[in-house]
Amino acid sequence: MLSIIILAAGKGTRMKSDLPKVLQPMAGKALLKHVVDSARELEPKKIIVVHGFGGDQVKADFEGHNDIDWVHQKEQLGTGHAVKQASEIISADDEIIILYGDVPLISSSTLKQLLSENLKKGINLLSAILPDPSGYGRIVRKKGNIQAIIEDSDASEEIKKIKEINTGIMACNGNLLKKLLSRLKNDNIKKEYYLTDIIDMAVTDGLPVRGFMASTWEESMGINDKIELARAERLFQKKLAKELMQNGVTIMDPARIDIRGDIKCGSDVLIDVNTVFEGKVNLGNNVKIGPNTYICDAKIGDNSVIHANSHILGAEIGTNAQIGPFARLRPGVELQNNVKVGNFVEIKKSLIGTASKVNHLSYIGDSEIGDNVNIGAGTITCNYDGANKHKTQIDDGAFIGSGVELVAPVKIGKDATIGAGSTISMDVEDEKLSVERADQKMINDWKRPKKS
Ligand code: UD1
Ligand code: CA
Repeated sequence: MLSIIILAAGKGTRMKSDLPKVLQPMAGKALLKHVVDSARELEPKKIIVVHGFGGDQVKADFEGHNDIDWVHQKEQLGTGHAVKQASEIISADDEIIILYGDVPLISSSTLKQLLSENLKKGINLLSAILPDPSGYGRIVRKKGNIQAIIEDSDASEEIKKIKEINTGIMACNGNLLKKLLSRLKNDNIKKEYYLTDIIDMAVTDGLPVRGFMASTWEESMGINDKIELARAERLFQKKLAKELMQNGVTIMDPARIDIRGDIKCGSDVLIDVNTVFEGKVNLGNNVKIGPNTYICDAKIGDNSVIHANSHILGAEIGTNAQIGPFARLRPGVELQNNVKVGNFVEIKKSLIGTASKVNHLSYIGDSEIGDNVNIGAGTITCNYDGANKHKTQIDDGAFIGSGVELVAPVKIGKDATIGAGSTISMDVEDEKLSVERADQKMINDWKRPKKS
């Protein structure tokens, strides 16, 4: 049976942040969640997370993830000490994989390799050759065989030249792990119990230490500071963009798209530059997303176009919509098919019927708008009286002139017309024209002031 131990107790001092390192986000998801997700793909019997610094915060972030066993490491005395805490709840005959909460790009296919050889004896260790190995533990080999791991802080200049590094990830059986951990000492520069010292011990005991390589070095990147975090973010985004393009999505520049959640795309979707997608986003066939747009938790129907600089959060958009440029759709918006929402329009918690238009500079909130309604430029639904929110209802075919204020609660009947500039606070009957406007005057003896 497989158990996976994930180390996540460190503060991550080098992050210089109050947020525990393993909760720092990559692609909008905590580093530790990436690791847990890879672990899950191996279908282990147990996933044990060792938490310590900011432990409550870490656990709170995983509420509802009931497949995790939490082990608390009170003091962060090193990676070896951390694994030791977890080893108390593993069985001697388990196969164990150890993962680090700050190595988030690791893939389950690479991890599977570590289980490919018989784990009854010895240790399977995942290494990588890095262009810049500084900061990592180095793998010391003799005649090709792994002898030990020497931590960067304890390494001589000669050792520091070694480019093969310890990813931190290893596999062995529970019995051996428990035995080796009981012999760990902290006689090193940092006065920590290093997990890596068990390699040296295994070699001394004549046990095999087998090295495996990650399929790409990027996978084994450890994230210790904001510079590495940014590097990992870019690598991960590149991978996500590649997957979309492999599925037929046109991405104008794969270096200028950010996906912080799950995105599903139909066929012939086009995504322009500087677009950010968050949460669950579903784009239908032939959808076009203009440049500089932000789209979060939204569903966009076939053939719809989101023009540049639009901000869409929690909205459902039907087919053939034209949105923006500079439109803002807020949570609870549902647009039926063929709807047009133009520039500088904000819509919140409203239903807009088929083929209706809100083309310029309007605020629509808490409204139910029917089909074929035309909302003139600068129309505002006055939905808030300072204490409560009220509803505006506009029925099919109504025409609202420009610069109208609709003081809710109010209902505009079917095919009714509202004259421009009106403040409407009473219901309007079907097919009627309603105008609320002072009579226009002409001041005959008025003179334009002159500059003195
Ligand atoms: C560690 C390895 C190093 C390897 C590198 C790969 C050791 C001694 N060193 O160094 O060989 O090249 O990772 O990225 O293992 N943690 C705990 N409890 C502790 C200390 C750390 O849970 O007491 C956790 C941290 O939260 C982190 C992980 O273990 O997720 C690694 O700790 P970190 O301090 O980042 O180790 P590195 O110096 O990167
Ligand atoms: Ca690290």
